[in-house]
Amino acid sequence: MKFCNIKVSSNFFLAPMAAVTSLPFRLMCKKQGAGLTITEQINATQIARNPDPFTNNEFFTIRTVPEEKPVGVQLFGTVEKDFVKAVEVIEKNFDLININCGCPAPRETSIGAGAALLKKPEKIASIIEAIASVTDKPVTAKIRLGWNKNDAVKIAKVIDRAEPDAIMVHGRTADQKYMGEADYDAIKAVKDVIGCEVVANGDVDSAQKAEELLHKTGCSFGMIGRAAMKNPFVFKEIQEHSKGKDWIPNDKERIEAFFDYYEYCKKFDMIKVSDLKSKAIQFTKGIDFTKGTRVRLIGAKSEQEIVKALEEFLKQTTAK
Ligand SMILES: Cc1cc2nc3c(=O)[nH]c(=O)nc-3n(C[C@H](O)[C@H](O)[C@H](O)COP(=O)(O)O)c2cc1C
Repeated sequence: MKFCNIKVSSNFFLAPMAAVTSLPFRLMCKKQGAGLTITEQINATQIARNPDPFTNNEFFTIRTVPEEKPVGVQLFGTVEKDFVKAVEVIEKNFDLININCGCPAPRETSIGAGAALLKKPEKIASIIEAIASVTDKPVTAKIRLGWNKNDAVKIAKVIDRAEPDAIMVHGRTADQKYMGEADYDAIKAVKDVIGCEVVANGDVDSAQKAEELLHKTGCSFGMIGRAAMKNPFVFKEIQEHSKGKDWIPNDKERIEAFFDYYEYCKKFDMIKVSDLKSKAIQFTKGIDFTKGTRVRLIGAKSEQEIVKALEEFLKQTTAK
């Protein structure tokens, strides 16, 4: 299957999430079947000011490895020449460039970036054109439906004139943040009027919801954010469901996913005990742990304690 001329293994992608979609997390989601991963948003101006961001630890969020492919990078900012410079420096490591036009955080909107760009779709169009002039990689934009009302069709039509390769649409306005339900009809209205690929996004947390998203929006591709944080298995669940099979991970698969994540964290020197502990608890939700294992997991204060508790549980269950 191809998306923007990139070979992808699935039509559901991992949405960019600041402070969540680290390299280990993206690799683990890829292993669970995410068709494409995208880095969290990265400041285009800061990259533009740095001669070699890949060797600078401050820019750990742009780290990627060949096994992650295909992978996109998401940039935020307002200054076209900074986007251009940033893309010239980092495009070699990525398969797709994405512009953040949806983040409602004041840190970004106060400087005219993120969702503030929705008030000036011509600006989004010129950023796309500027980036496309220096790269052959697909250039895409991730938008919300509008600033404080649904202007999605108007905004998408202006952006589409710049011939982006795709637009990712989160079916809420910036004002809504995460309130209410994502509006799939509004995403469909965009899909119906523009020429480029549309990736639908919002509220998918199961194979059934994924099916509903594609059915209601008419899109061929979808993106999952929050649900993947707690349930990265959702990608495989969707893939299996599309083959007519109902799948949920068994205890061993849940624990193995945690160990995949742990190994990636070790490999890239990105271990944080609090993060490991929350992943261990989230990924293993639904397992009927013995009381002892649960107490050890919740009380764990080091990575070794978390790992030991799960390893021993795994040994006990496989010995049965
Ligand atoms: C913690 C968090 C961080 C996010 N960071 C980004 C980001 O860096 N860039 C972006 O375009 N969207 C970001 N988003 C929005 C998601 O990509 C996605 O559009 C949104 O969560 C809706 O999809 P969902 O309902 O599947 O979660 C973030 C969302 C969350 C919850």
